[in-house]
Amino acid sequence: MKNQIAEMIHSAIEAAYEGVQGIPSAEEILASIEIPPERAMGDYAYPCFKLAKVLRSAPPVIAKNVCEKIGSGDAKAVTAGGYLNFFLDRESFAKKTLGSVKSAGGAWGGSSVGSGKTICLDYSSINIAKRFSIGHLTTTVLGHSLSRIFRFLGYKTVSINHLGDWGTQFGKMLYAYKTWGSESEVAEKGVTELLRLYVKFHEEAEKNPSLDDEGRAWFKKIEEGDAEATRLFQWFKELTLRDTERVYKLLGVSFDSYAGESFYNDKMERVIDELSEKGLLTESEGAKIVDLEKYDMPPCLILKKDGATLYATRDIAAALYRKDTYDFDQCLYVVAYQQDLHFRQIFKVVELMGYEWAKNMKHVSFGMISYEGQTLSTRKGHIVFLEDLLKLAQEKALEVIEQKNPELPDKESVARQVGIGAVIYADLSNNRIKDIDFWWDRVLSFDGETGPYVQYTHARCCSLLQKAREAGIAPAEPDFKALCDDEAQEALRLLSRFPDVVKEAASRYEPSLITRAVTDICQAYNKYYYEHRILDGEPSEVAAKVLLTEMIRDTVKTGLYLIGIEAPEKM
Ligand code: ARG
Repeated sequence: MKNQIAEMIHSAIEAAYEGVQGIPSAEEILASIEIPPERAMGDYAYPCFKLAKVLRSAPPVIAKNVCEKIGSGDAKAVTAGGYLNFFLDRESFAKKTLGSVKSAGGAWGGSSVGSGKTICLDYSSINIAKRFSIGHLTTTVLGHSLSRIFRFLGYKTVSINHLGDWGTQFGKMLYAYKTWGSESEVAEKGVTELLRLYVKFHEEAEKNPSLDDEGRAWFKKIEEGDAEATRLFQWFKELTLRDTERVYKLLGVSFDSYAGESFYNDKMERVIDELSEKGLLTESEGAKIVDLEKYDMPPCLILKKDGATLYATRDIAAALYRKDTYDFDQCLYVVAYQQDLHFRQIFKVVELMGYEWAKNMKHVSFGMISYEGQTLSTRKGHIVFLEDLLKLAQEKALEVIEQKNPELPDKESVARQVGIGAVIYADLSNNRIKDIDFWWDRVLSFDGETGPYVQYTHARCCSLLQKAREAGIAPAEPDFKALCDDEAQEALRLLSRFPDVVKEAASRYEPSLITRAVTDICQAYNKYYYEHRILDGEPSEVAAKVLLTEMIRDTVKTGLYLIGIEAPEKM
């Protein structure tokens, strides 16, 4: 619609000021079209002030001249001082918008712009022998949502869980297990027991520093492929993955690849050789580094004094491997902002290696999460395990359902959808770089900007549509005059811009734009719902109002899907 108006303005200016040089193009006009603060002023406005110089005339005069040349169409133009205000033809706007949403067949906002392109997304990327804490919630839900958004736009996506499964800490873990642990305890308690052993190691090592050497020795065994060390380490890894799989299942998250740090063990030599052939490696106190001083960054450490590789070395190997294997158009790293320097360094090193595609790697960073006002800290022992949080969310959602709708069938599974949805919504409702503070009473409320509120609106649409079916209202051609009121028009306006929101969410890696958009749609629809009797009136009017409800339901469901939230039909 905005495009069409820009074209109309452009032709009208040309007609009114024939032959004048410097008339702005339709695109330039498009960029200056505004949405007036109040509906009574019009649906769109075009300020003529910038034209004064080119057209050598006062803005109100220009507005008047141009307005006279605007023909009748889907929008009516009037002048207000130096402004041209446009009023859409409400009936045809309703008809066009709902026609487009309907023909998208439940995928309004989707497209094929990405077809033939591949995007790698590195997210969640948990660490072995640690329990899944809420510190890894954002990367998981943000990455998952982005992968859905890109697929919705036709891209092929590769979801990668770059496991943290390498490093000296695993040597310490093995030493601790061999010294204080037992197979049965670990088998029974899983990762919790591994954590206990790890903490014990650090307590003991404080008294007896020689334990660090023991830890290193065990890590060397893992590195050299010693049978026992390898077997135990694999076992610990399986235990951790089994633990996290439960959480992924609750969140509906899955991965195409679990190639983590250890996967690159046999791919390190290529990196080191290549770096040294390209003259990028220098020695510094026995270690090998890539000097990045010229780029205002500390050196990127590639090999330690003892020849061990590092996190960064593995990430460089991973980048080369991903490019070779998937030939990505973009490779996204969904990781907290604390690792900003790390990613700037490795992207720079890959660029210095001469790979022009280095520019297609992006760090999608995000802020910190705190829980009921407290920051999380492993050291201070303040960890919130994600599985506990999600269980609590489900219990609390069940309590709310028991209060509000005790007759609801299949309460447990709705409580799961609502509880988990509330947590995901809370995480994806703000600009990703903003820190998040997680409070139960805010997250689970049924009104305000929350997951349950959006889900509830969806369920409300579903039940209204069911009522419409049951009422046996005669099918009729919708009469779009029934949707010309302000409330319906506002809901339609939000529906019509949903595809732009999805595109922008993808280009800015910002699912919160979708969260915002579905919430706005729900608020607009609820306002409509309270002020209008949807099932009353002529069959053709009811048909139009029911169609609006149906398209709202579909779009809200799509929006929820894109942020990773389920949409129960009854709540
Ligand atoms: N395992 C790391 C952590 O938990 C995140 C890894 C991110 N991905 C990467 N390719 N470095 O902090």
